[in-house]
Amino acid sequence: MVRHVLSVLDVKDDLHSLLGLAGELKEKQRQGVVFEPLKNKSLGMIFEKPSTRTRVSFEVGATQLGMHALYLSPRDLQIGRGETIADTARVLSRYVDVIMYRAFSHEVMRELADNATVPVINALDDLEHPCQILADLLTIREHKGRFQGLKMVYVGDGNNVCNSLMLGAAMTGMHMVVSCPPGYEPDENLYNKAVEISRETGGAVEIEHDPMVAVKEADVIYTDVWISMGQEGPEAARKEEAFRPYQVNTALTSKAKPDHIFMHCLPAHRGYEVTDEVVDGPNSVVFDEAENRLHAQKALMLTLLSR
Ligand code: CP
Ligand code: NVA
Repeated sequence: MVRHVLSVLDVKDDLHSLLGLAGELKEKQRQGVVFEPLKNKSLGMIFEKPSTRTRVSFEVGATQLGMHALYLSPRDLQIGRGETIADTARVLSRYVDVIMYRAFSHEVMRELADNATVPVINALDDLEHPCQILADLLTIREHKGRFQGLKMVYVGDGNNVCNSLMLGAAMTGMHMVVSCPPGYEPDENLYNKAVEISRETGGAVEIEHDPMVAVKEADVIYTDVWISMGQEGPEAARKEEAFRPYQVNTALTSKAKPDHIFMHCLPAHRGYEVTDEVVDGPNSVVFDEAENRLHAQKALMLTLLSR
């Protein structure tokens, strides 16, 4: 059966080997070793929303592995004129070896995967962002050397990145605290799933609405935008008001451990969810995190296509 990665849950069984492989690929790249095990394979990349990191890291990563990558915008595909996502999946599966999809809706993501006969990788939808979390875990491992026993505090909107991060934290045995305004909690099903996984790994997942309480003694502070792609509109101004106390600034980070790391999936909306002094400060690892998208996704494609 074809293996898709639509959720962090889909890498639960080989998460540590994926991170190990990502580390090896990173080292190879650093040494300038040419490694093209996927020569003549093709990656189809469908983007319903804009992207800087995901597009460039997938396209460059594919090239480094010897593959060819195609950027496919729904504006140019026949999807834009009404061809179904199911037919698109069936057709693309006859040409390319793996499909990467950035979608508005997780349901449509599932529909694409259900109809594809090649692996589908979720490159962000309204529910999850699994590729981001692979890179995040790689970054945490590099900077902290471990997962078990770390306290990671996510401050902000209980969105796609938060959902996936909770699952990743649970799988690696971290203590994850989500600090969000009431009414902006992460997905309930995924939260319950993360709590259940935490019980097996010795981790913990909890919600603490007060950010000043949440970040106490944190090893990792993570935030993301308050308004995700597709949420712009009249609601956005009201949302910003509710999120103002959740800005990650030095008053907040001073409550964390002095050697904490600051993470953000980027793009950052400076002056909103995070201040310049934090994102550009000595504890910030956001650009290592962005780089690690490349290595983590290469490991993922290699794993999916080597079966
Ligand atoms: N973090 C992330 O996915 O960035 P892009 O939207 O630029 O791809
Ligand atoms: N939560 C953000 C992440 C961007 C990478 C969004 O969905 O827009």
